[in-house]
Amino acid sequence: MRLDITVLPGDGVGPEVTREAVRILRTVLDVYGYEASFEERAIGGVAIRQFGTPLPEPTARACTESHAVLLGAVGGPEFDSLPAGERPEAGLLGLRRALGGYANLRPAVAYGAIADCSPLRPEVVKGADVLIVRELLGGIYFGEPRGFSDASAPAAYNTMRYSVPEVERVAHVAFRQAQLRRRKVTSVDKANVLETSQLWRQTVTRVGREYPEVRLEHMYVDSCALRLITNPGSFDVIVTENLFGDILSDEAAVISGSLGMLASATIGGKVDLYEPVHGSAPDIAGAGVANPLGAIASAALLLRHSAGLEAGAQDIEDAIREVLDAGYRTADLNRGRAKRVVSTAEMGALVETAVADVADRRRAYHAV
Ligand code: IPM
Ligand code: MN
Repeated sequence: MRLDITVLPGDGVGPEVTREAVRILRTVLDVYGYEASFEERAIGGVAIRQFGTPLPEPTARACTESHAVLLGAVGGPEFDSLPAGERPEAGLLGLRRALGGYANLRPAVAYGAIADCSPLRPEVVKGADVLIVRELLGGIYFGEPRGFSDASAPAAYNTMRYSVPEVERVAHVAFRQAQLRRRKVTSVDKANVLETSQLWRQTVTRVGREYPEVRLEHMYVDSCALRLITNPGSFDVIVTENLFGDILSDEAAVISGSLGMLASATIGGKVDLYEPVHGSAPDIAGAGVANPLGAIASAALLLRHSAGLEAGAQDIEDAIREVLDAGYRTADLNRGRAKRVVSTAEMGALVETAVADVADRRRAYHAV
C-alpha cells in the first residue's frame, strides 16, 4: 500500500508541530509496511510572502492529487489589515472548498493524566469523550451576498444559508459516527430565532429516522455552550453548522485541558484534510514550546480515515496516553506537577519511541 501525503506546515507554530506529526506518521507507516511520500507545499501567510497568494495553484493541485493532506496552521498578526479574501485564512477556506470535505470531525477527550489541566473540576470532566461534527463548507462562512456597503453609511453584512442536501450529508456523517460510539447525537442550532436552524432541525430529524438505534436530541447553541462545561459527559456526538461548530470546538478544549491537544479530520470530499484545531499561536511561534499532540492526533485520524489503518491510529492514540501517563508535559500542560516539561521536538521524540513500542506489542500479541 502506498500513501501520498501533501504536507502544508503553514504559519506560526504550524511548521513545528507538523514536523513532529510527520515523524510519527513515518514511523507507524514503516511498521505496517506502507510506502509513503510527503510533499511539502506553501499555504497561508508563508504562501502570501512567497507567491503573493494564500493558496497558490501548485499547492491546490498537489493537494487534490494526493491521498491525504496534513496541515499545520494559517494566520498571523502581520496580515490583520488585509481584506478577508486576501488573508492567510482565505487560503485555508479555499483549500477546504477545493477538496470538498464538508464534515469536520473534532474529538475532545478527557485524558486522566492531565485532568488537572482543565479549568473544570475533575469530577466534571472525568470520562468525557465528545465528537463535534462541524459542517464545514456552508453557512455564514461561505454564504452570499457578503461585504461592506459603501463608505457613506458604513455597514457590513454576511449571509447564513443552508440547503437541505448540505444538512443531510453532514447529518449522515454524524449518525454513522454515533453508530460507532455511544449512539447519541445532539444536533445544535438556534431554531428559536433562525430560519436556517429550523431547516437544520427538520432535516436532521428526518435523517435521524434512518438510524432508529441512535438517540437524537436537539439543543440550542447557547444552552449547548453552557452544558459543554457543566456536563460534558452528557454528550456523545454533536452535529452543528459551521460557525457554531467553530466556536463550540474551541470551547470543548476545556475537556482535554489545552487547545493544543485537539485534532481534526475533514472528510467527505475528494481528498481528506487533517489539521490540529489550535491555529498558528503567533505568541509562541518559533520558540519550540508548542504542543504537537493535536497535530500528532490528527495524524492518527489520517491513518484511520484515509489509510484504513485503524491499528496504526490506535497505536498513536495509545502512545499519546502513555507519554502523558509517564508525566511528560509541554508548557501548555504544565501545572507544576509535570515530571519534566519538554519542548515540541522532545514531545515528538517521546511519542515516536512510545508508538514503536506500542506497535511492537500489538504485533507480538497478534502473532501468538
Ligand atoms: C478553525 C479555524 C479556521 C476556521 C480559521 C483559521 C479560518 O479557526 O479551523 O477552527 O474558522 O474554520
Ligand atoms: Mn476555529
